[in-house]
Amino acid sequence: MGLKALCLGLLCVLFASHFYTPMPDNIEESWKIMALDAMAKICTFTAMCFENMGIMRYEEFISMIFRLDYTQPLSDEYITVTDTTFVDIPVRLYLPKRKSETRRRAVIYFHGGGFCFGSSKQRAFDFLNRWTANTLDAVVVGVDYRLAPQHHFPAQFEDGLAAVKFFLLEKILTKYGVDPTRICISGDSSGGNLATAVTQQVQNDAEIKHKIKMQVLLYPGLQITDSYLPSHRENEHGIVLTRDVAIKLVSLYFTKDEALPRAMRRNQHMPLESRHLFKFVNWSILLPEKYRKDYVYTEPILGGLSYSLPGLTDSRALPLLANDSQLQNLPLTYILTCQHDLLRDDGLMYVTRLRNVGVQVVHDHIEDGIHGALSYMTSPFYLRLGLRIRDMYVSWLDKNL
Ligand SMILES: *[C@@H]1O[C@H](CO)[C@@H](O)[C@H](O)[C@H]1NC(C)=O
Ligand SMILES: *[C@@H]1O[C@H](CO)[C@@H](O)[C@H](O)[C@H]1NC(C)=O
Repeated sequence: MGLKALCLGLLCVLFASHFYTPMPDNIEESWKIMALDAMAKICTFTAMCFENMGIMRYEEFISMIFRLDYTQPLSDEYITVTDTTFVDIPVRLYLPKRKSETRRRAVIYFHGGGFCFGSSKQRAFDFLNRWTANTLDAVVVGVDYRLAPQHHFPAQFEDGLAAVKFFLLEKILTKYGVDPTRICISGDSSGGNLATAVTQQVQNDAEIKHKIKMQVLLYPGLQITDSYLPSHRENEHGIVLTRDVAIKLVSLYFTKDEALPRAMRRNQHMPLESRHLFKFVNWSILLPEKYRKDYVYTEPILGGLSYSLPGLTDSRALPLLANDSQLQNLPLTYILTCQHDLLRDDGLMYVTRLRNVGVQVVHDHIEDGIHGALSYMTSPFYLRLGLRIRDMYVSWLDKNL
């Protein structure tokens, strides 16, 4: 008995130490973040074991866990919540119940989840969108675009664009009582990628009459052209999102072929004729010195992938690849970046690129921030950092939208 308990104890310690990531100093609620990081790493480990044993694919296991967290559309005293479709794209719609003298503001939200996971139905995003609708007395739409690996690029982007275009139709804005001059597109992480790409498209499409007033990008992923940025190096084994996981997920956006993540890990995945794109993601120019530190810039090596994937050079997939004239027409932009985040430098470089062409950008950087914090603000973690980001986001919208 004693021996068994001792063995079990030892095993636990061994297990815990294997999944332990040292926490940066001064991080708020570090024990919670340590716990959720360990949980994320255990899930990844288990999913990889299952995949290697041929039981199920990595992403099937993870998406099973995500689905446990989906909620029903629950209306309350103030907001009517319905699951409906825009064209044929599922959305969760939040309509304030109170009578309004004037037309309302509106927010279209793209949830994160690495293009593979998640939904507006997830507890945290349902909570966020309801909170936004309530606080701003606004119409909010959570878009459930198709997911990888069942669907690859451009499915996710096209669903996002189709849902936004549908919402911007005169008759739909009238139906929901929305003011066409006060519409925002928001998103976090991979949802921030879709928000960015869709906003670029909408603002540059002469056929779309109503334009977007602003975009909000919360720790967005905007490129993988260079997979060896300073934030990739600092967070290679980082909290919640490691470089391996990020590369696996973004690869699945394009293909199931394992050759892509292999080439991406070596930063050799870009096609031969794509060198002209590197200037758009050249961190040695675009990143403020504070984040460049003493890292030495090395150019990605071309042609490590034996076939060409058009998505890799497409700004609809990797919106940092848009050229300056595509960025010029963009609306007021709020970008939030987190220090301890693999995707930190994507957001920072977009701030520079937008400012370089005269787009008005408000940038907040959270020194003790981690990737994906919004997803942990509800049960079981109730992460204060997530609530802090929610409050920054919603109060900025309230002042500016
Ligand atoms: C990136 O920027 C550096 C200057 O910091 C420059 O020497 C290099 O040629 C640039 N590379 C590309 C591909 O733009
Ligand atoms: C920018 O990209 C757009 C779309 O790909 C293209 O039509 C345009 O010619 C490009 N502009 C410049 C200055 O390269």
